[in-house]
Amino acid sequence: MNTTPGNPPADQVVAAPTYMADIRFFFRPEDISHMAAKGIELGTYDGVKKNALAVLAQTSPPNAQMPPDAAGKWSADRAQTFKNWIVNGYPLGTATAGSPRRPAAPPRPGSARTSPPSPRPSSSCSRRRSPA
Ligand code: HEM
Repeated sequence: MNTTPGNPPADQVVAAPTYMADIRFFFRPEDISHMAAKGIELGTYDGVKKNALAVLAQTSPPNAQMPPDAAGKWSADRAQTFKNWIVNGYPLGTATAGSPRRPAAPPRPGSARTSPPSPRPSSSCSRRRSPA
């Protein structure tokens, strides 16, 4: 059985990416731990910012050295998003629940929650009466 593990995830170029909304998801736990062992911090904003140019050089197709495994290779779109993040001055951004930018985000363990019930205003007494 051969399931071609080398396909990068389908990314889209994000014109104005932030660390919290986009960039931090580019690094897998194994990337972070392997590179931490080599003194390159990929699991924090400061670490990624400090190493950003080297990360871009190492991960950009078609001659990416990093990550070494085919399955982890970055798509051109992902590398472009990372480049946009550098050019825009490394915006940190904020963590937003249910960010619309992350339609293909992997399911978070233990989050079986769907959208909460929408609060309904009691409408029965809200009819306006026209003055007599
Ligand atoms: C910032 C510049 C980087 C440098 C200079 C660098 C350098 C290295 C070196 C020298 C190794 C050891 C290679 C080997 O043992 O075959 C390594 C391993 C690794 N790197 Fe990087 N790396 C960089 C960025 C990255 C990035 C951005 C990622 C992921 C997105 C990454 C993922 C990995 C992984 C997963 C390994 C472990 C490979 C294995 O042991 O199977 N590295 N890196």
